Amino acid sequence: MKGIIFNIIEEFIGENWGEEKYEEILGLCPLHTKEPFVGPGTYPDSDLISIVEKAAEILEISVPDVLRAAGKFMFPKLVEKFPQFIALHKHPKDFLVTIDSVIHVEVKKLYRDAETPRFQFTSPAPNKLAFDYQSKRKFCALVEGMLDGVAEHYKMPIQYHQTKCTHKGDTDCHFELQFGSRA
Ligand code: HEM
Repeated sequence: MKGIIFNIIEEFIGENWGEEKYEEILGLCPLHTKEPFVGPGTYPDSDLISIVEKAAEILEISVPDVLRAAGKFMFPKLVEKFPQFIALHKHPKDFLVTIDSVIHVEVKKLYRDAETPRFQFTSPAPNKLAFDYQSKRKFCALVEGMLDGVAEHYKMPIQYHQTKCTHKGDTDCHFELQFGSRA
């Protein structure tokens, strides 16, 4: 996983619970990485998972809740760093369908060793969207948080629910979305 994601997780914990809490969490993690995480670096997924699991334990919240809150925090940070990916899209649906075919493709050009998740979209109705999320990291709760971030960015409610989940034994996670209104 790229350092940029580790850095945003650090910011997320630091801004919400304080830098000292982040350092405490980090100190308790069995990390493979000994040096500081830097944006363009690539680090083991297991280090990120350790940090998230330890944060959940210390902060007394569930791992999915940490990932959901981190995803919501992460989205505006990514937009700040890569404003070009959102600028052209006036509706969250138009934006979301570009995650796999444009955004993560560009991310992989920028960071050759990035391993972005796979999304496959279908459009059952003008105000609806469905997709499958596939990743060995099984971060569907992070996807949920990102969707909350997208809704906030566009100031449009997005209702979502997962009808399949790898954590329940399915081969991928299936999301069904409904947008508040479509102008
Ligand atoms: C400006 C928009 C976005 C940018 C620049 C961006 C960029 C990135 C980057 C750099 C990574 C790390 C990949 C790696 O280290 O291997 C990543 C991972 C990820 N992205 Fe995006 N992303 C964007 C939007 C989204 C959106 C809207 C979603 C979902 C609704 C999403 C879902 C994810 C997830 C779940 C991961 C974690 C890795 C995994 O699940 O395997 N991204 N993204």
